[in-house]
Amino acid sequence: MNEKLNEILSLALEEIKEATTMLKLNEIRAFYTGKKSPLAEIMKTLASASIEEKKTIGAASNKVKQEIEKAINERRLILEEKEINDKLASEAIDVTLPGYDLKAGAMHPLNKVIEELEDIFIGMGYSVAEGPEVEIDVFNFEMLNVPKGHPARDMQDSFYIDENVLLRTQTSPVQVRTLLEASGKPVKIICPGKVYRRDDDDATHSHQFMQLEGLVVDRNITMSDLKGTLSMLMEKMFGKGRQIRFKPSYFPFTEPSVEVDVSCFKCGGKGCPMCKHTGWIEVLGAGMVHPNVLKGAGYDPNIWQGFAFGIGIERITMLRHNIDDIRNFYINDARFLKQFEGER
Ligand code: DAH
Repeated sequence: MNEKLNEILSLALEEIKEATTMLKLNEIRAFYTGKKSPLAEIMKTLASASIEEKKTIGAASNKVKQEIEKAINERRLILEEKEINDKLASEAIDVTLPGYDLKAGAMHPLNKVIEELEDIFIGMGYSVAEGPEVEIDVFNFEMLNVPKGHPARDMQDSFYIDENVLLRTQTSPVQVRTLLEASGKPVKIICPGKVYRRDDDDATHSHQFMQLEGLVVDRNITMSDLKGTLSMLMEKMFGKGRQIRFKPSYFPFTEPSVEVDVSCFKCGGKGCPMCKHTGWIEVLGAGMVHPNVLKGAGYDPNIWQGFAFGIGIERITMLRHNIDDIRNFYINDARFLKQFEGER
C-alpha cells in the first residue's frame, strides 16, 4: 500500500512541477485531492481493513495529501508571481517611443483680422454689437433710407426668403437695431459679421463675405471725428504714416457719403502694381448718418449726429496678406491656412 501511496505522491509532485498555468494547477489539485482522487479511493478501501491498517494507511495517505497540497501551494506562489511579471512585461509602455503627430489647427485669417479690428475699436471705447444674418427688409433697407422700389436696391442683389425677409446684404441693419435698442442714448458700436449677395463668385466676389460696420451717434459729431477715427484705424492696420483721403460717393443711409482710400503701404504712395500706380488703395465706405435714419430710429437730427462706416473684411485681409483670390478663404485648403499659423 505504501508503494501505491508513494507512486501517487511522486506522480503528483511531477505534474505539479510541470504545471505552468494556474488553470493546470487547479486541475491537478482537483484530480489528486478531490472526492474521486486516487487517495480518496484508497480511503474508501479502508472501511474493510483492520484497525491497525486503518491507522497506518490512514496516517500515510493523509501525509501524502498534505505533501501534495504543500507542493501545490508552493507552485501556486511561483505561478502567481510569474503571471504578474508576464502581465507587467506585456503591458509595459515604452515612454521613449515618439508620440502621435496631432495636427493642430490655427485661427482663420479672416477671424484674426476681425479680432485685430475689434481690439483696435475696443481700445477707442467701442462695444461689439451683433445682429441676425436672416434679416427683415425693414431693417436691411427701409429704415436705412432705401424704401421699396428705390433704385439703390439694385446696388445689392439679394437673397430673399419671402417678400419681407432676406439674408442681410450688409451689416448696416445692425445700425438700426442698435439705435432702436439704445432708444435715444449715444451709441458707439462696431459689428463684424457675414453678409450675402447674389453675386457670381470670382477672384474678388463671393455670394457670402464679411463686413465690419461702425456707428457713432452722439451730440456734436462731425466729419473730422470720422476722419480721425479712420486715420487711426489705417495706421494700426497698415503701419505708421498712412494717410487717408475721402472721395465723394453715394450711400443711401449717409449724407455726405465718402469712399475712403489709404495711401499705398507697399510703395508709400509713389505708385506700384499694388495700388495700380495711383498711390492710393480704396478700403471702405463711410459717411455722416442720414437724418432719415436718425429720425426713423427716434433720434432728432437737429440734436444728434453720427458717422458710420462699412469695411470689407476680406478686402482688408487680402491687402494685408497679398492674397489674390477671395475664394481661398472659403475652400479650407490646409496649405493656404497653414501660411497664417501663429501670424497676427
Ligand atoms: N453697407 C455698405 C455696403 O455694403 C457699406 C457702408 C458704406 C456702410 C457706408 C456704412 C457706410 O455704414 O456709412 O456697401
